[in-house]
Amino acid sequence: MAIPAHYIQELLQRNNVTDVIGGHVHLKRHGRIYKGLCPFHSEKTPSFTVYPDTQSYYCFGCGAGGDIISFTKEINGLTYVEAVKMLAQQSGMPLPDEDDKVSKLKSRIYEMNKLAARYFHANLNSEKGKNARIYLRQRQLSDKTIVNFGLGYASDGWQDLTNYLKSKGYTEEEMVSAYLAARSSKGNVYDIFRDRIIFPIIDLRGNVIAFGGRRMGDEGGPKYLNSGDTPVFKKSNGLFALNLAKKSGKDTFILAEGYMDVISLHQAGFNNAVATLGTALTSQQAKLIADYAKNVVISYDSDEAGQKATRRAMEIFSKEDVAVSVLQMDGAKDPDEYIKKFGRNSFENLIDKANSALDFELQKLKNQYNIKDTQGRIDYLTKACDILAKIPSPVLQDVYCSRLAEETNADKASIKLQLEQSRSRYYRNSSYKRNKELLKEGVAGSTKVDYRQQGNTLPKVVAQQNIIGMLIRDNELFDMVNTQLKEEDFTDANMRSAFTQYKKLKAEGYDVGYALLCHYLDGDTRKELAKINAGKADIITTAEDMQMHINNLKSAPMGQSEIKSASVEELAKRIESLKEKKK
Ligand code: UTP
Ligand code: MN
Repeated sequence: MAIPAHYIQELLQRNNVTDVIGGHVHLKRHGRIYKGLCPFHSEKTPSFTVYPDTQSYYCFGCGAGGDIISFTKEINGLTYVEAVKMLAQQSGMPLPDEDDKVSKLKSRIYEMNKLAARYFHANLNSEKGKNARIYLRQRQLSDKTIVNFGLGYASDGWQDLTNYLKSKGYTEEEMVSAYLAARSSKGNVYDIFRDRIIFPIIDLRGNVIAFGGRRMGDEGGPKYLNSGDTPVFKKSNGLFALNLAKKSGKDTFILAEGYMDVISLHQAGFNNAVATLGTALTSQQAKLIADYAKNVVISYDSDEAGQKATRRAMEIFSKEDVAVSVLQMDGAKDPDEYIKKFGRNSFENLIDKANSALDFELQKLKNQYNIKDTQGRIDYLTKACDILAKIPSPVLQDVYCSRLAEETNADKASIKLQLEQSRSRYYRNSSYKRNKELLKEGVAGSTKVDYRQQGNTLPKVVAQQNIIGMLIRDNELFDMVNTQLKEEDFTDANMRSAFTQYKKLKAEGYDVGYALLCHYLDGDTRKELAKINAGKADIITTAEDMQMHINNLKSAPMGQSEIKSASVEELAKRIESLKEKKK
């Protein structure tokens, strides 16, 4: 989807780089720039830098760099368009792709959902809801819990909700697209949720986005029915009770499997519990949890399926910046049952005792070695340090070093030394891998291909980077460049595309900053420019500097292939100008 420049420009004006990044990274001000610990690699001293001037960021440690859109994209694992939408939503802008029709349908669905939730809730307190009330009582839910979760009852008829919504002016098509009604083969619409306890799913802004419905008896279709995807709901992104868990203000979340587990947990005071909606944990959900919590306790069912799901969830969480522990439950099928059987305090004990995923891994490792034997001990410690090297928190690393020292009777200082080695090896490997990947993608750029094939054209590339870097900071310099250089003078493909786009936006009357230009560049050009920005942060650039770079570009050493084809006169001219420069 092509998002127009004016839209991006407004988005950039509404979202400040320090606010957007500050929501994820603790930033400290240093004069005109801000620094913090890089969210994209693990480090002890801040090398992640934010530049309000250019609305950009750059990490001197791992090379991550970009603007607010690329940051939002990377940190949340979104696509470019999704990131734009997220920022738009946060700053109250209408979404870019939405013509009036889609956005109108969405708000109609929100309204319908809200009405439906109220309708279901009212049913529960009416004559029709008698059995439902008895059922909830049996499951030991208090009135307070019922209200807190907005629970309801979908009555037994085929068209109860449908008729109600019709009376409120909604069309059959709208109800079907909200997943509140379905159409029969004869073409009649009917209620999807019938004779079920209703669990509304509410997003972080308080909108009812979907429903879950549980049958009360043993018959009548699947135990739970869930809304399918609609224009306002994506099952793979949704979490039940995230709205409440976020409000709890706790930095640990409990992840359970089911609606009833979450409700029981909240009722017992664990108001930080969430659940997925009848699907296995997805990476989007893991990211969402990691956004709001530092720790997560996986509290899945104790049966085999639950344990299998636990291992999968651990795997998915391992890619996120969140500490994971696993709760082990005996004597009950799920948290709901456990709390009813043994009480809330026992459950709290389980949480305290929950094994961290790290403990889990170290324990597994330890079992492989005989640590009474010297060689076994060394091997165990070496492997253990390799595991610890990957944890971002130095405090946690220290805790584990002490523990290892105690366990093996080794000297803590030497364990730390070993850990340092593991760490540098780990980072070397990961940055090596990253660079290799960049090269593979043909990225690192067209610069490098150019460089190798044609001899040393690097100074030319540097001059081009400097020129673009300065243009971004000072639009007034554009005419000076535009009169002396042509697009073809930019031999580096990334810088050429930056120049072409810059020129185009200028012609359309825009003040072209880094962030706006980014919208038209691929990820690597964006990163390259972020790096150039970072290098220029403290420098005030002048027209003289610009002229120097223009001259450099014109006179920089040529690549082998250029030399071959250049005429003798031209070569002589170049040599002269180089001599000139040396003086
Ligand atoms: P469970 O069968 O463990 O249900 O399914 P539960 O949450 O413990 O509920 P109760 O105690 O029997 O009432 C766990 C979750 O899997 C999804 C639901 O989200 C449920 O909460 N599920 C289960 C479905 O989506 N459909 C089903 O038919 C069953
Ligand atoms: Mn249950």
